Amino acid sequence: MCPVIGFDPRAVRELLNIYNEDEPILMIRIGKEKAESRKLRGYRKPLSEFVTYY
Ligand SMILES: Cc1cc2nc3c(=O)[nH]c(=O)nc-3n(C[C@H](O)[C@H](O)[C@H](O)COP(=O)(O)O)c2cc1C
Repeated sequence: MCPVIGFDPRAVRELLNIYNEDEPILMIRIGKEKAESRKLRGYRKPLSEFVTYY
């Protein structure tokens, strides 16, 4: 599941037949990863570098 905000809200309203005042602001993608399309991830900071637990 991945949240996505980079979409055209007008196109989504049309696609989903939203004709009221509701505004699509976030979509959640749900699906199964295509393993053969997996790309190498860039460097990810370890949580310990920027998260402190109290
Ligand atoms: C609030 C929010 C909005 C996001 N919007 C987008 C988006 O518009 N486009 C996109 O490609 N990824 C977006 N992401 C990131 C994806 O949900 C996802 O985490 C990312 O594509 C996974 O990449 P990775 O597999 O390299 O970690 C968003 C994440 C968050 C938390």
